[in-house]
Formats: sequence, C-alpha cells, structure tokens
Amino acid sequence: MTRAAILGTGSCLPRRVLTNAELEKMVETTDEWITVRTGIRERRIAGAGEETSKLAAEAARKALAMAGVAAAEIGLIVVGTMTCEKAMPSCACLVQKEIGAVNAFAMDINAACSGFLFGMDVAEKYIKADPTLKVLVIGAETLSTRTNWEDRTTCVLFGDGAGAVVMAAGDGERGMLGSRLFADGSLWHLLHMDAAPSLNPDLVAADYQGPFIRMAGQEVFKYAVRAMQDGVAKVLAQEGVEPEAVRLVIPHQANIRILNSLTERLGIAPEKIYINVHKYGNTSAASMPIALDEANREGRLRPGDPVLFCAFGGGFTWGAAIVRW
Ligand code: UT7
Repeated sequence: MTRAAILGTGSCLPRRVLTNAELEKMVETTDEWITVRTGIRERRIAGAGEETSKLAAEAARKALAMAGVAAAEIGLIVVGTMTCEKAMPSCACLVQKEIGAVNAFAMDINAACSGFLFGMDVAEKYIKADPTLKVLVIGAETLSTRTNWEDRTTCVLFGDGAGAVVMAAGDGERGMLGSRLFADGSLWHLLHMDAAPSLNPDLVAADYQGPFIRMAGQEVFKYAVRAMQDGVAKVLAQEGVEPEAVRLVIPHQANIRILNSLTERLGIAPEKIYINVHKYGNTSAASMPIALDEANREGRLRPGDPVLFCAFGGGFTWGAAIVRW
C-alpha cells in the first residue's frame, strides 16, 4: 500500500523577537500573566522582506535540501495560511515562483490553525492517487499583520513564522497511517478575523471594526481541549495504535495549559509532547511544521516511530493524524 512519507522538514522564523517585557510597555499586561496563562515568553514579528510568502519559501528551501529533492521535482505545493500578503494569487503560487518549482500546481488552504494538518491530508490523498508525486506542504503566517495591538486579550498570543515538509510515497511501512478532520462552522463567531474593508458599500458589515483577529478565549480553550482529545482518540482507534505507543506528539501550539490538559486526558507522558510555544507564541498554521522541524533537527524522531499530530483553529476546524516516521 502506498503511504505518504515526510522526506524533509524546514522552518523559517523572522529575526525580530518581541518579549513579554516589551508587551508590558504596549498594553496593560504583565510577563507573569502571559507566562502563567499561556506559557508564552516571546514571539517573532516579521519585518521588511519577511512577508508570509518569503518565510514560506525559505522554509520550503530548507525542507527540499533535507529531502534531497530539487524544486523542479515538486508536483504540488499546498500552503496553509490566512495571512498571505496577497489575497490573490495564492501564497502557494508566490512560493512556486520564489523557489522555481516550475512543474508544480499550487493552492492555499484556509483552515486557520489547522491549515497545515489539512494540507498534509490533501497531500496524502494526492500521493495515494499518484505515487510519483512529490508535494511541498507549508504552514506560513504573519499574524502580526492582523493583530490589534491595543487588545491585550489577543495581542500577547500570536507570532509569525513558517514551516514546511516534503511528502512523497514512502518505502515500506513508513508514512501517514491515517487522519481524521472535522469542522463546525456554527461556532465561527468564537474565533474569527474580518477580511480587508469591503469596497462595495452594500456589503460593509454594520459592526465592521477592522481586519483583526478576535477570540472568545475561554470558550475556545474549552472546546479546543475537548475537540483535540476526541480527534486524537478517533485516529488512534481507527489505526489501532495505543496511546503508550506514540513516540512524539506534534500539537498546534496555542497555549501550554491546553497542551498539559490534553496530555493528561490522553494518558500520554508529558515528555512526549513537543512544546515550543514559549519561543514563538501561537503561529497558527505554521506552528506544527515549525515544531516538527525543530523536533526533527534535535534528533527526537527515529525511523518507525509513530508520531501524532493534532490541531485546532478558527472555523472551528480540528483534527489529528498519525505518521510512522
Ligand atoms: O489557535 C487557535 C486556538 N486558540 C486557542 O486555543 C486559545 C484558547 N484560549 C486561551 O488560550 C486562553 O483563553 C487565553 C490565554 C486567551 C486567556 O486565558 P484565560 O485564562 O481564559 O483568561 P480570561 O480570558 O478568562 O481572562 C482572565 C482575566 C480577565 O480579567 P477579569 O475579567 O478576570 O478581571 C481578563 O480581562 O485576565 C484578563 N486579561 C489579561 N490580563 C493581563 C486578559 N488578557 C490579559 C492580558 N494581561 N494580556
């Protein structure tokens, strides 16, 4: 059976670090509040030349180099993002041009923080349909472009960055075992971001307040824990993998308390969850591939290891996947 394996990983973070101490000077907050409630100590903020597509392209170059795959060998580019510097063309098309992936077709997926997970799933389906296909899956965001820097309930949470993987048909048992993806659009209002202002006066929403991310934090928190737990339980049962057999969990990095609560509920040892939210905050679709790349380069993954991915984001969207490394 053809399985879609991850051949290489890469990531790219903006140079500028924004610390909690700096945020204390911008809004009424404290390093202690942010650290205790979220686990975040600092995040990266994009500067000139670090647009979403540029971060994405650099992460892609690193993943290609690790995989030993040339850009021209890539047949599909999928980017999970909701903050590309252009609404059209897609970030994936900009990446294609930037890296010279002249033989690829390219498209974006907007599944908010679940975008990379949904992208891996799409890649897996295409690879199963055509085992010769090599796919770049990227998660890239510059949430700083959509943050209300006067709103302390959101501005302390987010950061910018990109991560990428090269996927292709694996040899033997290696590759994605299965996935479960979900959405519930009826809860969109708990976590959302308006688009740029409408130029059609008839379609300007009465309550339009700007293209900022808005979130009902507590409700999202509770739903995120329950939903990810449910998604993980379903994919483990589907693939017949016991929680103890999972070698590493690469979760979406939104809040350390969500991750602690998840580990407890899943019965997975805390040291098996990869955490870097303290360094980058919540980078939405970019958080999982950045975490995967760091874990990979730190030597945390061995061939044959079952690696669990789980995400939750605006939509709501959520899900989980299990990959044999
Ligand atoms: O990536 C997609 C999914 N997103 C998530 O998973 C995020 C989920 N939600 C969360 O991570 C948490 O709900 C937050 C970190 C956003 C908030 O933590 P919380 O423990 O739920 O705090 P809260 O919203 O209940 O606020 C507690 C208090 C409030 O004050 P009062 O009403 O108790 O007086 C807030 O006004 O903390 C206040 N507060 C702050 N204080 C200092 C809110 N933001 C801040 C802040 N600094 N930055």
